[in-house]
This record gives sequence, C-alpha cells and structure tokens, in this order.
Amino acid sequence: MKNIFRVWLVILFIFLPLGKIMSEHNSADVVSNGVEWRDINGNVINAHGGGFLKVGDYYYWIGENRKNGVFVSCYRSKDLLNWEFRGDLLTRNSHPTLDKANIERPKVIYNEKTKKFVMWMHYEYGRDYSYARAAVAFSDDIEEPFTFLKSFRPFGNMSRDCTLFKDSDGTAYFFSSARENYDMCMYRLTDDYLDAKEHVMTLWPGGHREAPALVKRGNYYFMITSGCTGWDPNQAKYAYAKSITGPWSELINVGDSTTFDSQSTFILPVEGERETSYLYVGDRWDGTHYFNSKYILLPLKFYGETDMQLNWAEKVVPNVKSGEVAELSN
Ligand code: GAL
Repeated sequence: MKNIFRVWLVILFIFLPLGKIMSEHNSADVVSNGVEWRDINGNVINAHGGGFLKVGDYYYWIGENRKNGVFVSCYRSKDLLNWEFRGDLLTRNSHPTLDKANIERPKVIYNEKTKKFVMWMHYEYGRDYSYARAAVAFSDDIEEPFTFLKSFRPFGNMSRDCTLFKDSDGTAYFFSSARENYDMCMYRLTDDYLDAKEHVMTLWPGGHREAPALVKRGNYYFMITSGCTGWDPNQAKYAYAKSITGPWSELINVGDSTTFDSQSTFILPVEGERETSYLYVGDRWDGTHYFNSKYILLPLKFYGETDMQLNWAEKVVPNVKSGEVAELSN
C-alpha cells in the first residue's frame, strides 16, 4: 500500500510540472514571423492562402489544409495569438467533383439575409492549373462542414487567385485573376452571395496581378496584390480608390522587393477600443515542401488618407482589446 502511494507521488511530481511546461509552451503571447505556428494543442496550423472573419468574440481563420484529403480547415482565437482547431470545412468527400480537386485561397463572408456563411475559392481539377475556376460553398455554421455548391468560370472568365470583400452596405464582391492572370476581374455577387451577378470591371488589364487582399479604411478602399511568380515571392503593390468601383489609383510598391518573402492573402482589421489596426497577412510559401510554408503577420501603417507602408517586424503583439499592435525586433 505504501509503495503504491510512493509510485503515485512520483507520477504526480513528474507529470504535473511537465503538463504545466507544455501548457505554458502552447500559450503564445507574441506572433513570431516566419517560424512554424502551432495551435493550442501543439499541432502545426494548416490554413494557407486563408482569410479571417470575426464572429462574436472569436476571430476565425479559414485556409488551405491539403493534408489527408482535407481542403479547407477552420481555427479560432480570441486574441490572434492562441488558435484552436475547430474542424475541416471542405474535404475530398464533400462533393463528387472534389475527388481530384485542388482548392486554393478560400475566403468566407457572412450573409445577413440568408444567415449563411458563404465561401468562395479557387478550384482546380487534376494536376495543373488549367481549370481556372471559382467555386462556392455555404454553411449555417462557420465551424461545420460546408455544402459545396458548384465550380464555374464567372461570365466565362478564367478565375485563379481570388478574394472576397463584403462592403459596409452588405454588397459583396469577388476578385480573381483572369486571362492567364493578366487581368484582375471584379464581380458583384448576387444578394445571397452564391453567384456572380455582374462583371463590374477589370482592374489593371494586362497588369499580371494576383493574391488580392482588400480592406476599407476611412474613406478609401485599399487593395494589395502580388505579381505573378508562382510560389516565389515578389514585390507587392497596393492601390486605393474612393469608390470600390473605381477609379483605382496606379499600383504603388509596398514592403520590400520580396514582400519580406511572402505573398498577400488577407488584410485583417483589428478593431479595438482605442484604435483600429490593419494586419497584413501573407504566406511564406515553400513550393517544394508545401507544408513547410509559413505565415507572416505585419501591421500596415497608414500616413494621411492613402499612404500605406509595410515594414518588417520579427515579432508582433496584437492587442485585440485596444486595437493596438506592438512590434518587437527580436
Ligand atoms: C501562386 C498563387 C498560389 C498558388 C501558386 C502555385 O502564384 O498565388 O496561390 O496557386 O501560385 O504556383
């Protein structure tokens, strides 16, 4: 009896501190750029080419997974530091046309009228990028599997790198690279967000832009895009417009010549009590070993109404309560 007691004591002494070390290890208080990010259970986060959506107190992060027949995964966090895996939203089994599909850059918005979360994404079938289609899925619950609706070419246009943007009046837009990535097309969505209603305009025809990410700040819309160099990074550029339907400004360099070795995927507003900050979210791709790809989160700085700057920071500390974002150099 005494021996059993001793064994239990030993087990307690070994595992209690170990548990504490592990939980401390998993609780993050800074975002470290360019290193592997893990969720609160210690698993590598797979949400590449992703987007973010605030629902209640939670920021949801939805992106490409690609592991074990999964296409799109969902994580959530209250502080943008500690992410909890919530499930897979689209898998190979979600629809017969997904059996050999490749899904990239999924983005989700909420439709107030239909009370549905709607996902748009880049759809390919087979090995290459020749399908060049958009695809749409929807769900009543952001954490539950989505129903895959269809893949198609909006108004017959090729559709590759893409994003969704929901304006303050509830009108939603889909942007995607068309004509072998030469053009950036902008589509207004139907009221239920399940289809493209109108090809509103083609931005920078022949400009070869992809990886679009949009935000509205003050009186201006901002769009960041990359050039077209596949998995290799290049100089990001931004443009601004007073009306989303233009005229859009010329393209202006932002960040350095490789966008700090990343490609844009989203601009995340952090709306706090003191201010609203805007975070640039980029993928640091590893095209050879896709799962070594990392994420980059950096504050976008604005000067005046339309000047935007992006600087490198080793570490970033978002404060979701105040809306401030601190930068640390090491
Ligand atoms: C990039 C694109 C990525 C992926 C990659 C494949 O240009 O932004 O989402 O499609 O090409 O080479």
